[in-house]
Amino acid sequence: MTKITGWHLSLRFPNEHDRTIFEIARHEFQNCRTPFAFGYENVANFDAYMNLLGNYRRGINLPTGHVPALFMLGEVEGTVVGRITIRMRLNEPLQRYGGHINYVVRPQFRGQGFAKAMLVAATDIARQLGLKKLLVCSSAHNLPARQVILACGGNFESKVTHDDGEVRDRFWIPLCSEDAETFKPSLPIQPVTLWEGSSLHH
Ligand SMILES: CC(C)(COP(=O)(O)OP(=O)(O)OC[C@H]1O[C@@H](n2cnc3c(N)ncnc32)[C@H](O)[C@@H]1OP(=O)(O)O)[C@@H](O)C(=O)NCCC(=O)NCCS
Repeated sequence: MTKITGWHLSLRFPNEHDRTIFEIARHEFQNCRTPFAFGYENVANFDAYMNLLGNYRRGINLPTGHVPALFMLGEVEGTVVGRITIRMRLNEPLQRYGGHINYVVRPQFRGQGFAKAMLVAATDIARQLGLKKLLVCSSAHNLPARQVILACGGNFESKVTHDDGEVRDRFWIPLCSEDAETFKPSLPIQPVTLWEGSSLHH
C-alpha cells in the first residue's frame, strides 16, 4: 500500500495531460469487475475518450440508454488515487440497481479514506446539479463499498437482484432537508478543491 499522510483530496475533470495515468490505471483495473474507464474499449484512443467524457458531461451524442454524467479524478498531493462518476439523472436500470454514483480507488491507495472523501465531494457537486438525494448501489458482498456509503450518510432502502444474479443493496444519501431552499444547477462546475480529508479520516 502507498500511504499518504496529511492529505487533501480534490476532484477534477481529466484532461489531455492525463494520458499516462489513464494507461496505468486501466491496466491496474483490467481484471476488476468495475473498470477505471467505462467504455474506453469502444473508442479509438485517449483523445477520443476525452471527447466521449466531454459528451457525457454535456449530454450530447450519448449511446442509447445512457444519461449525462461527470467523470472526475480524485487527486491527492498531485497523485490520481481514484475516480468517481456522477450520473446526472436516473433511467430505469440506474433507478433499479445502478444508482447515481460509481467510484473506484486504485488498489495501492485503498484503506486511507479516499473513497469516502471522493463520495463526500461528489455530494457537493450533486447539490450544485440540483439533485435532492443520491442513489448509491453496491454489491451486497462488497463490504468496503458498503462502509463508504454508510459513512457518507447512506440509508439502506432495499435489495435488488441484477439480471446477472448479483444481489445489490440500494442506499439513498440525502442532500437537502425538505425545507431547504431549492438548489439551482450551476454548470460548468469548476474543478475546485471540494473537501479536505480530516473529519472522515481516522
Ligand atoms: C470500494 C472502494 C472504492 C473503497 O475504497 P477505499 O479508498 O479503500 O475506501 P475508504 O478507505 O474510504 O473506506 C473503506 C472502508 O471499508 C472498510 N473495509 C475495507 N476492507 C474491508 C473488508 N474486507 N471488510 C469490511 N470493511 C472493509 C474500511 O475499514 C473502511 O471503513 P472504516 O473507515 O469504517 O473502517 C475500493 O475498494 C475499490 O475501488 N473497490 C473496487 C471498485 C468498487 O467496488 N467500487 C464500488 C462500486 S459501488
